[in-house]
Amino acid sequence: MKIKRFDDKAALYAYAARLITQLLQEKPDCTLGFATGSTPIGIYEQLVSLYSQGRVSFAKALSFNLDEYVGLSGSHPQSYRQYMLQHLFRHTDFNPRNIYIPDGMAADLEAECQRYDSLLEEHPIDLQLLGIGHNGHIGFNEPGHALTARTHLVTLEPETRAANARFFHSEDEVPRQAITMGMGSILKARSILLVVTGADKAAVVSEALAGSISTACPASLLQTHADVTVLLDRDAGRELHDSSL
Ligand code: PGA
Repeated sequence: MKIKRFDDKAALYAYAARLITQLLQEKPDCTLGFATGSTPIGIYEQLVSLYSQGRVSFAKALSFNLDEYVGLSGSHPQSYRQYMLQHLFRHTDFNPRNIYIPDGMAADLEAECQRYDSLLEEHPIDLQLLGIGHNGHIGFNEPGHALTARTHLVTLEPETRAANARFFHSEDEVPRQAITMGMGSILKARSILLVVTGADKAAVVSEALAGSISTACPASLLQTHADVTVLLDRDAGRELHDSSL
């Protein structure tokens, strides 16, 4: 696991965008795994800026998103499809045919999970971008006695719904279920880029990266992957001591 620390978020976002750009230059038809939430927004801004300067193209790339809310159509402002359009896809040359996001409105949600897994098998992810939840979740793989390897339907933890309520008018509006890639699908990515900022994530960063591997902290499973790069700003990294790794 490579850990890189940054004094400020802007440098971190620029570094992450450079890693993604390098991959696109080496392999224009690569498959990228994207995440939503507050953390990746700065990275997407950098990618849009690099694209508008003509320094990167996404025309041949494929993209898969980690998750999507159940019950929100792709045109709902808080759906992750809209998030991706707003922050990245609409401003770049991604081919809409190469964009994959679970369909949270599918009539048969189990079949939708299977369809997504088959697509992932057909197109292995070269680089998976990840954030981490305060409870150690990755995508919507919530802590528990057991984790699910494949794409599956999940009931969101009250903590996750509360954390995401800031994007909705009220907590009540936050969907109760989501479709998420499983930890197995995530760990199949050839490389993983975990990005964490803010003092409120310092404890979970230390638990995930330096604690024992446990389903109680899904992100701790990243310790088993051979190619993980972690980018931390000073606040997020303040409880993680190099001697504990
Ligand atoms: P955040 O979400 O980037 O909005 O903090 C991360 C996550 O819950 O995975």
